[in-house]
Amino acid sequence: MKKWLRNWRLFSLFSVMALLLAGCGKPFLSTLQPAGEVADMQYSLMLLSTAIMVLVIVVVTIIFVYVVIRFRQRKGEENKIPKQVEGSHKLEIIWTVIPIILLLILAVPTVSATFKLADVKPMNKEKRDKDTLVVNVRANLYWWEFEYPDYGVITSQDLVVPTNERVYFNLKASDVKHSFWIPAVGGKMDTNTENKNQFWLEFDQKAADKAGGVFYGKCAELCGPSHALMDFKVKAVPRKEFDQWIEKMKNAKPVVTDPVAKQGEAIFNKSCIGCHAVTPVDKRPEQARTAPNLANFGDRERIAGILDHNEENLKKWLRNPESVKPGNKMTGTYGKLTEEQINALAKYLMSLKVE
Ligand code: CUA
Repeated sequence: MKKWLRNWRLFSLFSVMALLLAGCGKPFLSTLQPAGEVADMQYSLMLLSTAIMVLVIVVVTIIFVYVVIRFRQRKGEENKIPKQVEGSHKLEIIWTVIPIILLLILAVPTVSATFKLADVKPMNKEKRDKDTLVVNVRANLYWWEFEYPDYGVITSQDLVVPTNERVYFNLKASDVKHSFWIPAVGGKMDTNTENKNQFWLEFDQKAADKAGGVFYGKCAELCGPSHALMDFKVKAVPRKEFDQWIEKMKNAKPVVTDPVAKQGEAIFNKSCIGCHAVTPVDKRPEQARTAPNLANFGDRERIAGILDHNEENLKKWLRNPESVKPGNKMTGTYGKLTEEQINALAKYLMSLKVE
């Protein structure tokens, strides 16, 4: 291949990659734009370790280039051997001590941050403080449940949290291993079926404003054909707004006036209510909660976690869930509903709001 062609291809590849990676820098998604205490700590560690790595690379490269030039074979000196330094105590000590110092510089803040990030004492107190917020996260094949145990409120897909305070999470899964990740706000943690993991996150108000109030959450553990579609949204709001939201959720009940939506309600109560609840206060045990709670469905950010939130997409989802999210467990609608019934259901679901 012509050399210029190869170079040109490489150049194009790098340009495309730069363009693609530039898309990762969004404030609602990017780890490189830390949006809270945890993300800040982790970002600082990343910068520190990168700085140390770059320093080592630069110093080693300089020494390497110097040695290659300084001790290269010269004309007329083919048999000259430079002074040998094998077994030099001084050198051995230098190149043992330098890495030890570098590792210490990296280890001290890393260990200290690890302990800070693992501090979940406030959530496990016998009697929790009134303002310590705990959220139980349950990951299921392609959807997320969020329970606020101290308020008896359950929701799904859209996590609502107060800003500028630590929020504590209990993480688990009901089927296979998933991983709970809000990239801009902190590192991921696995949700397992056999144990409960705990950690905390803090959502910065200023960063939330920059992100438009909504951070993106992801499943970060390969869990099945729709793993890449297992998204959720995080609405980060001031504490006062959060408290108001909780109050509204506690008392939320479907209020249907529109006649078409009323038809939808009838269909829902006949066919869907076995799996989906429409009130956030759901006393059933979690094994019985086999599908997302839809109490505030009309307020949500997405349909099925990924599609823009509008009636058209909702109907598309109801018509054939499999075409949107392969392998999902919503089997009750495909081929079983007429267009008219789908219309009515969509109207009803969109009317479920607390805001
Ligand atoms: Cu759940 Cu990947």
